[in-house]
Parts: sequence; C-alpha cells; structure tokens
Amino acid sequence: MDAIFKRISVRKYESRPVEPEKVERLLRAAMAAPSARNQQPWEFYVVTDRETIRELAGCSPYASFLPEAPLAIVPCYRKEGLTAPSYAEIDMSIATENLLLEAADLGLGACWMGIAPVRERMDAVNAVLGNPDGLEAFALVSCGYPAEERPQQDRYEESRIHWIPEKK
Ligand SMILES: Cc1cc2nc3c(=O)[nH]c(=O)nc-3n(C[C@H](O)[C@H](O)[C@H](O)COP(=O)(O)O)c2cc1C
Repeated sequence: MDAIFKRISVRKYESRPVEPEKVERLLRAAMAAPSARNQQPWEFYVVTDRETIRELAGCSPYASFLPEAPLAIVPCYRKEGLTAPSYAEIDMSIATENLLLEAADLGLGACWMGIAPVRERMDAVNAVLGNPDGLEAFALVSCGYPAEERPQQDRYEESRIHWIPEKK
C-alpha cells in the first residue's frame, strides 16, 4: 500500500486550509479502524480556531510546531459503556494511524503528538476541550498541506524477523 510507504511525520505546513471533504475523509478512515469487540470508543474534535490550537500546543512539551498547522484533530475516547475498556487506547492507536495514512494518501501532511498515557497531558487537553469526566484525550494530530518533503526512512531490518521452523 503506497500510503504506508510514503507517510512521514510532517511538522511544517502551508497556511491554506484543508478542504472539509478531506477532513471528512480523514475521519472516515479513522472510524474504519478495527476495535476490540467493535467497541469504537472514539470521539474526534476538529479544531481550526487559532487560539484553541495554541492552547492545545501548550499541553505537551513536544507540540511546539502545532500552532503553525491549519488544522488539529484531537482523538478522544469514552471510558464508559465499553465492552473491552482495557483495549481502548489500543483501539485509538489504530484509528489514529488510519487517519495518518489517509492524510498521506490525500497529499496532506500530519503528525501524531503523544498525549495518552501521560496523565498530566491528558488532563491538560481535557481541560482545554472541556471534556466531561467519561471522555479522555488520546492524542493531538496536526494536519495541513506539507511544506516539507523527505523520503520515508527505511526501517526494514531482516534481523528483527524470527522464523519458527516447522516441527517435523
Ligand atoms: C505514540 C506517538 C507519539 C508521538 N509523539 C510525538 C510528539 O509528541 N511530537 C512529535 O513531534 N512527534 C511525535 N511522534 C512522531 C514520531 O516522532 C515519529 O513517528 C517518529 O520519529 C518516526 O518518524 P516518521 O513518523 O516520520 O516515520 C509520535 C509518534 C507516535 C506514534
């Protein structure tokens, strides 16, 4: 799949906005993800308001580039009513990766900024968004048309693959 092998973390963006139909496509990709017992714990905030994006950037020491992005998406997850709650963050990881891959496929750039499982960052994002008690911030994702280009790093390492021989 082409998008898997061209996706990189993009941290520099053009100022032009991302079209609403592309934003919808990103969210459709995220929600197409598999989840434990198909519990779909996700909720997504779509943020273009500059002040809110700046406040979100202040929630992590590793999000200084976020205010330059025209768009931030904040995947969050519900804690209540789940049939496999201990899998919620795993489900959210898959949904977030789907979103990044779709962004690459659409010619957009994106970067995942880790929020969960770091409690202070989760609390900070929850406070910015006014999340109710049962809703947890999972990550920040910056998105926009890329203003940087580079080939993906080749991380394939044959030595990490361990074939188990067939038992006779
Ligand atoms: C769980 C997770 C958390 C991450 N958090 C940050 C972050 O806070 N800030 C950032 O700039 N990049 C963050 N990244 C992006 C990684 O730094 C990046 O994926 C890694 O360096 C490999 O580069 P690539 O995405 O271009 O292949 C995160 C990625 C993941 C999967």
